Amino acid sequence: MKKPVIAIVGATGAVGAEFVGCLTRRDFPVGTLKALASARSAGKSLDFRGDAIVVEELTENSFAGVNIALFSAGASVSRKFAPLATKAGAIVVDNSSAFRMDRDVPLVIPEINARRIKEHKGIIANPNCSAITALVPLWPIHKKNRIKRVIISTYQAASGAGAAAMRELEDSTRAYLDGKPFEPKVLPHPYAFNVFSHNTPINPTTGYNDEETKVMNEAQKIFEDDKVAFGATCIRVPVLRAHSQTITFECENPITEAEVHAILSDAPGVKIVDDRAKNYFPMPVDASGQDAVLVGRIRKDLSDPSGHSIAMFVAADQLLKGAALNAVQIAEYLVSRDGR
Ligand SMILES: NC(=O)c1ccc[n+]([C@@H]2O[C@H](COP(=O)([O-])OP(=O)(O)OC[C@H]3O[C@@H](n4cnc5c(N)ncnc54)[C@H](OP(=O)(O)O)[C@@H]3O)[C@@H](O)[C@H]2O)c1
Repeated sequence: MKKPVIAIVGATGAVGAEFVGCLTRRDFPVGTLKALASARSAGKSLDFRGDAIVVEELTENSFAGVNIALFSAGASVSRKFAPLATKAGAIVVDNSSAFRMDRDVPLVIPEINARRIKEHKGIIANPNCSAITALVPLWPIHKKNRIKRVIISTYQAASGAGAAAMRELEDSTRAYLDGKPFEPKVLPHPYAFNVFSHNTPINPTTGYNDEETKVMNEAQKIFEDDKVAFGATCIRVPVLRAHSQTITFECENPITEAEVHAILSDAPGVKIVDDRAKNYFPMPVDASGQDAVLVGRIRKDLSDPSGHSIAMFVAADQLLKGAALNAVQIAEYLVSRDGR
């Protein structure tokens, strides 16, 4: 696979646009790029390295000759078309939740478990964006001082719900400021100047929504340790792009702020932004467009006087590290090390 044929499924979406950007920016060795989306977008064109790529309708025959298919068109599209892609000989890197918890499907954050890529049977899953954001900085700490328990509270941006949600945030904010009525169509509640529980369905028994359940289950699968206890509360905030999180974790052995700083200062995929003097910490406006997970407000969790717990605040561009970038990093392994 020196110059693979790459298909992007969902090329016209928020993640799809970032796939194109990441392939370009990272000089990925693309032989041919196929842009696939729904019939609504067939015939539109997008720019890839100066060439106009015409978007084609995704059909059962779309994958002939494709080596790597990057999917980001929702779980139902992945469930139907990823098996057709693998049957046609492509390796699928899937951004949806369709296959993440399947035993046979590696769930990969390259900074953590790239070694699992070669075990794929045709499909490799990209984790949930909030899981990636939390786990990239937690993993190097966990390796040095096993983490027993993690509590994650998210502040999730409109971009996590796709291009239409980003437009809804802009349009509803404009309407609010103009004093005009606005009927939400994409998200279930008024978005401008509001905060609400994540818009995925709630499990009536546990009270956790799907986003929270994904974060907790996927974290254990990626850490390969179901004894690490994860709790998550996922909240949608009126930020256009990039998710933030408060993370509090308890380790097996005592841990200090200085140790966490030292571990994270050369951790892959992490950038420390932690300036107490200037009150400058991770913010979504700074994380937008960046590859790294920004980490700051690293401090002792005073609710645990034993000294085993740390609290911190993170922000990451979930369209990049939480989606397209992570998938393209996986594809880079496939190309350079032949993950078959
Ligand atoms: N946004 C994120 O931060 C994020 C992070 C991680 C994972 N993901 C996952 O990535 C996927 C896409 O997210 P997004 O934010 O990019 O959504 P989006 O902006 O709404 O884009 C959806 C894309 O899927 C295409 N599509 C929808 N239905 C289709 C169908 N039946 N056949 C072919 N193409 C179809 C759309 O094509 P048209 O333009 O033609 O409608 C569009 O290209 C979802 O599974 C999401 O869970 C998203």
